[in-house]
Amino acid sequence: MTNNKIMFTNKTKSLFLSSVVVLSMASCGDKHNDPGTEFAANMYHSVGYEPLSQTEGDTNHINPYGMNMRLPVKGTVPRQYYEQAIKKDSIDGDLLQMDLVARNIKSGDMASSEALLTNPFEPTEANIEAGKLQYERYCIHCHGEAGKGDGAVAKIYKGVPVYSSDALKNLNDGHIYHTITHGKGRMWAHGSQISSADRWKIVLYVHQLQQAP
Ligand code: HEC
Repeated sequence: MTNNKIMFTNKTKSLFLSSVVVLSMASCGDKHNDPGTEFAANMYHSVGYEPLSQTEGDTNHINPYGMNMRLPVKGTVPRQYYEQAIKKDSIDGDLLQMDLVARNIKSGDMASSEALLTNPFEPTEANIEAGKLQYERYCIHCHGEAGKGDGAVAKIYKGVPVYSSDALKNLNDGHIYHTITHGKGRMWAHGSQISSADRWKIVLYVHQLQQAP
């Protein structure tokens, strides 16, 4: 009796084990791209148009040529084609070259910015004026109208320096551009909010404030 029981248990065990083996082998197909049965297909396949596909049945009837993704705006420069754009001189080559150099400088590497970056914009009246406008939008509330560190926010957010002080009056293009882009000490980074062209124009205006009496 006891023997029988043991035999029965062993039989069940081996039956169970072999079915696990068979099942697990059956669930592995050789078609690696076949996901098998999908229980909630809507979770895997988006209901909206796929941006990069244009297959039958997924054609957009509103956009030209049935495209799902619209063409980029004219003049858009993909990052990897910088070199081409500079050669074609389609947009300001100097700015693009400076962008490329700046992008390769790490946020902690102020020394490289100081040594390698120079303003691609001339200090024309129009450029300085454009820089002033951006300064008024992004900097004035801390740094103050004349760059004396007395903006409204600076009353609470302490430690905003004076541009014309001995320590700051000779800061060069690269140093100021780096500070705007990556922030410095208690100042936050502005690189994601202000275009590189506008950052360079702000630099022109900060230079003017460095000389302010
Ligand atoms: C929230 C307030 C705040 C805003 C906004 C701000 N700054 Fe600053 N800035 C500071 C503070 C604080 C410091 C001192 C940083 C430190 O040394 O800790 C500073 C330092 C600087 C310096 C000197 C860097 C150095 O090497 O000592 C420059 C140049 C500068 N800011 C330019 C700008 C410009 C240009 C803008 C606008 C794009 C701007 N800041 C926006 C607070 C601000």
